[in-house]
Amino acid sequence: MILPGDRPESIAAAVSALARGELVGLPTETVYGLACDACNDAAVARIFAAKGRPNDHPLIVHVATAAAVSRFARAVPPFAQALMDAFWPGPLTLILPRLPAVGAACAGGQDSIGLRCPSHPVAQALLQSCWGAGIVGLAAPSANQFGRISPTTAAHVQAELGEGLLILEGGACSVGIESTIIDCTRGVPVLLRPGILTRAQLEVACQCTVRERDALVQGTTVPRASGTLESHYAPKARLRLMDAKALLTAVTLLGTELHAAPGGRAMVALYSRVPLDNPVPGLLERRMPGDAVSTARELFAVLRELDAQGVKLIWVESPPPGPEWDGVRDRLQRAASPALVKLTG
Ligand code: TXA
Ligand code: MG
Repeated sequence: MILPGDRPESIAAAVSALARGELVGLPTETVYGLACDACNDAAVARIFAAKGRPNDHPLIVHVATAAAVSRFARAVPPFAQALMDAFWPGPLTLILPRLPAVGAACAGGQDSIGLRCPSHPVAQALLQSCWGAGIVGLAAPSANQFGRISPTTAAHVQAELGEGLLILEGGACSVGIESTIIDCTRGVPVLLRPGILTRAQLEVACQCTVRERDALVQGTTVPRASGTLESHYAPKARLRLMDAKALLTAVTLLGTELHAAPGGRAMVALYSRVPLDNPVPGLLERRMPGDAVSTARELFAVLRELDAQGVKLIWVESPPPGPEWDGVRDRLQRAASPALVKLTG
């Protein structure tokens, strides 16, 4: 059931559901989440079950304000505080040392906790009302089946998780890819998942170098982050990344073989910034925007739409090299990973 997120009665219904230990589909500025009371272990277990997610993959806890961080985190290093001051509310998750008494189920048994303060007005309204009702944080992974593309509309959430779920309508997500995740438990900031914030923006805010995940984790325990598995964010179709030249060559070479399936459905889709000179029968074309922010905003919806059209192959033009494309490039590389066949098959 989808309720309008901008109505107080919808927020009240969602708070009641959460207080009963039920799950709620929640719009955020990045992607939609599947939320529950972070301190209700039975409800957290329901999230893992609904997503088919292994329960040692930790969940992010969403809070109304930075003031709620002390309910979950044992310590906040100065660089983490600076990041919070700069980017909260917004698309940034911080991994912090966890207070031992709270959030163990969300944390998948780790002694850290992921915290994020979202800016979406519906998420804010819900979190504030929850706080008033004694619910101090909402655990919320992306509201998709494990291994699949994150939802960026309420309709996507319903398609993933069914009609029975209470979902707050918040429109299409303005960022469109998941939050940037910074591990703040290692003395220096470590980038676990790129998002829409650039490394330069992060470094200016915290006045220190943000390390690459792989550079630091040698010899230490790598945090279990499902978003960091090679084969995440997968459409059903096989996705291939190519530069513009390879892509045009592929279209030319296979042009005559790109027959539409019976019933006129295309088998191959193209998502690229370069236009084709002439339309190719059997090839579905979607133009990729020229900037990273617009591409991030539409990326998951485009992949879902192409899946819904039944194409078997999606040929995607590789994003340009600029750092502002890191988040989009990361999602596309994961979606293109051949390992996804094993994981999701
Ligand atoms: O934008 C987002 O972050 C969205 C919205 C709903 O807030 N949420 C989201 O959650 O993407 P999820 O669960 O799909 O991805 C969260 C990632 C996972 O890869 C998880 O393993 C990692 O964050 N994570 C959470 N807590 C962690 C922790 N304590 N240590 C290391 N990684 C953690
Ligand atoms: Mg996810």
